[in-house]
Amino acid sequence: EKGGYKHFMAKEIAEQPVVIADALKHYTTPEGGLRLPEGVDFKGVDRITMVACGTASYACHVAKYWFEQIAGLPAEIDIASEFRYREPPLSGQSWAVFVSQSGETADTLAALRYARDKVARIVSVVNVPTSSIARESDLSLPILAGVEVGVASTKAFTCQLTVLALMAVKAGLDRGRLTAEQAAAHLGSLRNLPGLMNHALGLSGVIAEVAEELAEAQDVLFLGRGAMYPLALEGALKLKEISYIHAEGYASGELKHGPIALIDARVPVIVLAPRDGLFDKTVSNMQEVMARHGKVLLISDAAGVEEAGAGVWKTLVLPEVEAAFAPILYAVPAQLLAYHTAIAKGTDVDQPRNLAKSVTVE
Ligand code: F6R
Repeated sequence: EKGGYKHFMAKEIAEQPVVIADALKHYTTPEGGLRLPEGVDFKGVDRITMVACGTASYACHVAKYWFEQIAGLPAEIDIASEFRYREPPLSGQSWAVFVSQSGETADTLAALRYARDKVARIVSVVNVPTSSIARESDLSLPILAGVEVGVASTKAFTCQLTVLALMAVKAGLDRGRLTAEQAAAHLGSLRNLPGLMNHALGLSGVIAEVAEELAEAQDVLFLGRGAMYPLALEGALKLKEISYIHAEGYASGELKHGPIALIDARVPVIVLAPRDGLFDKTVSNMQEVMARHGKVLLISDAAGVEEAGAGVWKTLVLPEVEAAFAPILYAVPAQLLAYHTAIAKGTDVDQPRNLAKSVTVE
């Protein structure tokens, strides 16, 4: 049932090009237009509030950038355990969107019940269509990732992102922020992702070598800017969950506001940075790390690696991708780094200590 892989996590990482292609096929027409359920109509919606836990909350965090930048739609995010007890005021013209692989996470379900009757629509993005969260939503969009067995979420994360990206494009059209051509260009970029992810999977051997050294670290920092910032948080979560190495994700611009104090020759700093409009800022962050003898692993595209210049510890080169959707592609090396580091440490990758696949208690 592991399909020739040693672990479910390895299988599920490798499945991503296929399941993302499936999700795109499901939610687009053969001609390449959007085909989301009828209720996904953002006209008159004044904001969306996205709520989830763990990895699913990082998918919401990435999607916040998309809804704001692609659709000009105010988007808020919160983790379910804070949202439900904070009891925030919600607009009756807003949507509340709950993202969950299992659809059974207790805090996310309680957050959904809190939002009921306070918002225009309760929407969920789930992997298990028969789950409580799906059943209690006005509208539920399955992510079609297939069964995810590994406790560390991988393919569900990228499928959540894919569905949220399609929703953001729809919001852009509904709100008149995107022309049909611009929407088609975004959808074209999404359709390229499975092929690009296959390329990223091909880096597994190189990543395994890097992981041998990463496995020696006590602490690891992940940095990213813009929509890559939540991916830095996700990369750190994946690494700590399965390798038990202490890892933190930060927005690159926050480095000098505290975490730089941790940097020395023993702290690897993993920089997730395609060569986008803010790349030169990231280069100066890397220089600050290197000046303190920090070991930078730069994950970028060929142009980014070229521009970053000498002095970085290691580089991983990914293909070019539309900047907005880079987190979907860059999730693959982040997952593979965690996986191979855990293998190097000999930990139980599919069943990490203290963790459960579905958190149905509070
Ligand atoms: C991380 C992980 C957890 C879950 C979180 C939410 O790899 O698996 O952080 O993402 O417990 O679970 P769901 O998505 O089932 O609500």
